[in-house]
Amino acid sequence: MAGMCVLVVGGGGREHAICLGLSKSDSVNEIHCAPGNAGTSHIATNHNFTEVSDLTHLAFQLDVDLVIVGPEAPLCEGLADMLIKMDIPCFGPVANLARLEGSKLHAKRMMFENKVPTAKFHVLEKNDDIASALDDFASNPWVVKRDVLAGGKGVVVTSDREEARTFIEQSIATDGKVMLEEFLPGEEASVLVVMDKSGFVCLPASQDHKREFEGDKGRNTGGMGAYAPAPIYDEVVEKRTIERIVKPMHKALAGMKIPYRGVLYVGLMIDENKDPYVVEFNVRFGDPECQVTIPLISSDLGEMLNAAANDELSQIAVKFHKKHALTVVLAAENYPGPVEKGRHITNLPDSSVTSWVNHAGTKYQDGVLVSNGGRVLSCTAISEDLVSAASEAYDIIESITLTGSHYRTDIGHRAL
Ligand code: AMP
Ligand code: GLY
Repeated sequence: MAGMCVLVVGGGGREHAICLGLSKSDSVNEIHCAPGNAGTSHIATNHNFTEVSDLTHLAFQLDVDLVIVGPEAPLCEGLADMLIKMDIPCFGPVANLARLEGSKLHAKRMMFENKVPTAKFHVLEKNDDIASALDDFASNPWVVKRDVLAGGKGVVVTSDREEARTFIEQSIATDGKVMLEEFLPGEEASVLVVMDKSGFVCLPASQDHKREFEGDKGRNTGGMGAYAPAPIYDEVVEKRTIERIVKPMHKALAGMKIPYRGVLYVGLMIDENKDPYVVEFNVRFGDPECQVTIPLISSDLGEMLNAAANDELSQIAVKFHKKHALTVVLAAENYPGPVEKGRHITNLPDSSVTSWVNHAGTKYQDGVLVSNGGRVLSCTAISEDLVSAASEAYDIIESITLTGSHYRTDIGHRAL
């Protein structure tokens, strides 16, 4: 395994964090990234490909030892299936298992079959009685979920009955069906579980901040910042999550014809009795959760990802730093709405052992660093405690200049 050549698929802050982790791994000596961003270009060779067929061809041409897939779309389109057929190990599940993220209804079915705690729900189709379904869950806000990959725009949580009804009707018109889910009160946390046929490893739990403004107000975003470990995920919650959710899911996924090889993102709602419920599954690292999780892994990242891609996870020891990481996302003007690209980014500090400047929507234009997306950078600090991690992450982000950019000033507020 020594000296692997690795291809990382994706081009966001998550993939830059993965590349940074691999660049510190003794097991890895060559990193490629497709399409990558300005940040990955310093530690990997970028290739401007995003189509599954091009990525497969690239992996073959480069004769890589391992492909690590960041985003869900290529997994849902069968990238892992194609790589496995070519005997190229892939970190990321096959399309049939990626449906856990691709179809919320499929995820519900699997949770039901394996007795995993989650919210009750109705599936509504044309001519179904919407009013009576809304009545069933009327004591709390309504949660309406489209059964498609909608890039974070597929869920509406609202106390406005008319808004819920309209979203239900629109979703049935475009998708044929929609889910109405019981509202779960509590606090959210994300647990990233690396798994393969042989076993699983739970990484430190984190908390994302999905709304655009302080105090969790405003529109939903891809994620404005995160920190780990999340204190809400204490020993009691951890034990219950492993027994009630991780073990049954792993048993089912490891028993598939091609087992789940990758990371299962378990989005939890933890109620006041410390009982965990699954809000969502994703089949990839979260972004920005990845940026605060990878720096806390003290053992060799390449070794762990390669082991999972080869069903050898139970043979290695994964270790963690007893530290805290916090990341703050620098977003372009008007994000999460449409943004103007190509604005100059200046005064960017270098990454160090205790601070990772993760590039997301960035690129070099005629040698100059410019913005190239909605979430532009995420600034991560790793420290002995969460207070100093927060203060250091904000020191980094405040030093950077990007006209019109904005960030949340309260990342970590629940734990701080
Ligand atoms: P999802 O895409 O399923 O993760 O939903 C997006 C966000 O909506 C979650 O991160 C939660 O904040 C919220 N949400 C989803 N389902 C529920 C639920 N059943 N109860 C309360 N909030 C929810
Ligand atoms: N940060 C949420 C996600 O990656 O889905």
